[in-house]
Amino acid sequence: MQDKQYLMVPGPTPVPPAVMAAIAMPVIGHRTDNFARMHEQIVKKAQQVFQTKNDVFILTNSGTGALETAIANAVSPRDKVLSLITGNFGERFAKIAKAYNAEVIEVDFGYGNDVDLKVVEKKLGEHPDVKVVLATQNETSTGVCNDIAGIGALVAKTPALLLVDGVSGVGGIEIKVDEWGVDMLCTASQKAFMLPPGLAMISVSDKAWEAVEKSKSPRFYFSLPACKKVYDKWNTAYTPSVSLFYGLDASLDMMLAEGLENVYQRHALLAKATRAAVKALGLKLLAEDRCASNVLTGVWGPENVGADELRKIIKNNYGVTFAGGQGPVKGKIFRIAHMGFCDKMDVIIAISALEMGLALSGYQVNMGAGVKAAQEVFLGGVR
Ligand SMILES: Cc1ncc(COP(=O)(O)O)c(C=O)c1O
Repeated sequence: MQDKQYLMVPGPTPVPPAVMAAIAMPVIGHRTDNFARMHEQIVKKAQQVFQTKNDVFILTNSGTGALETAIANAVSPRDKVLSLITGNFGERFAKIAKAYNAEVIEVDFGYGNDVDLKVVEKKLGEHPDVKVVLATQNETSTGVCNDIAGIGALVAKTPALLLVDGVSGVGGIEIKVDEWGVDMLCTASQKAFMLPPGLAMISVSDKAWEAVEKSKSPRFYFSLPACKKVYDKWNTAYTPSVSLFYGLDASLDMMLAEGLENVYQRHALLAKATRAAVKALGLKLLAEDRCASNVLTGVWGPENVGADELRKIIKNNYGVTFAGGQGPVKGKIFRIAHMGFCDKMDVIIAISALEMGLALSGYQVNMGAGVKAAQEVFLGGVR
């Protein structure tokens, strides 16, 4: 048997050959004109994805480093922070704020739910002194997408800053930083951007810069003023991952060549097909259609078959890797990613493997029903 693997977890995601080839280019010095030119191009392309005129910094660290950069620079000790939590990554954003000694008001909407705007409005009314609001665009632990436009409209009526974790959403789900009033948007390379782990990005609005300059939090590697000092020369404060910059340049080219609108529609179609397939197999989805993510799908494990046991069977027999649950849904759900370098046939492979895994685990499965449901979504009524 060959050991062919199919990576279907919500990060890291498969890397396209063109991006791998770019990463393999000879390493160049980062204090050179060649690097500066590439850096400038990357930032201009990233600004198109973020839909912003704000500064966008490319950071050599994982997504959590971008979240810490946001907090360390926008939050001072004892600042009141309103944290909107819909799962594990919302919890993490709040933990970082606590580590920086903020006074954090946690509003937990529960795993599988999205942010309720009425609750946000009420909390902002009760706490007019909130300095910063934390939100997650796409909650990867559950496969729920939050209404950042709606949250942005509420925060815009207050003096607070809006910091958004877009680590798994940006590049797969549209976000309009300037129009929606996102003061800092964080994302990372190993998700919809189709790169290996190792880079992150953060945008910073003019309003956010005022807080950055006044912040009393300690920072060194994560200092935005240090990034800004050399930004005009398209330099970076410390040694960047030059090879991943090459890769990011190539992956942004791929995304812009496909057209961002097409990228978002492709993800929406893959999500629709995956959800139709899961329902056709009689399994339950974690998120309601209304707030379901376009880049991954959370599924409850079938009764009498553990979600992790099912994942193990699928991985060992068919080389398809799905992700497990986290926090309170650990062992209870599995997550199928359709994120980044992913198209229709990847979903067909995933669903076909799921059907066979279910059969091997003793679940009464109507073989082919899931694949058929996905195919019908892809055919769009042509048959
Ligand atoms: C929404 C979200 N936020 C933050 C992170 C953390 O990013 P990293 O693992 O790159 O530090 C992840 C990673 O899965 C994520 O999905």
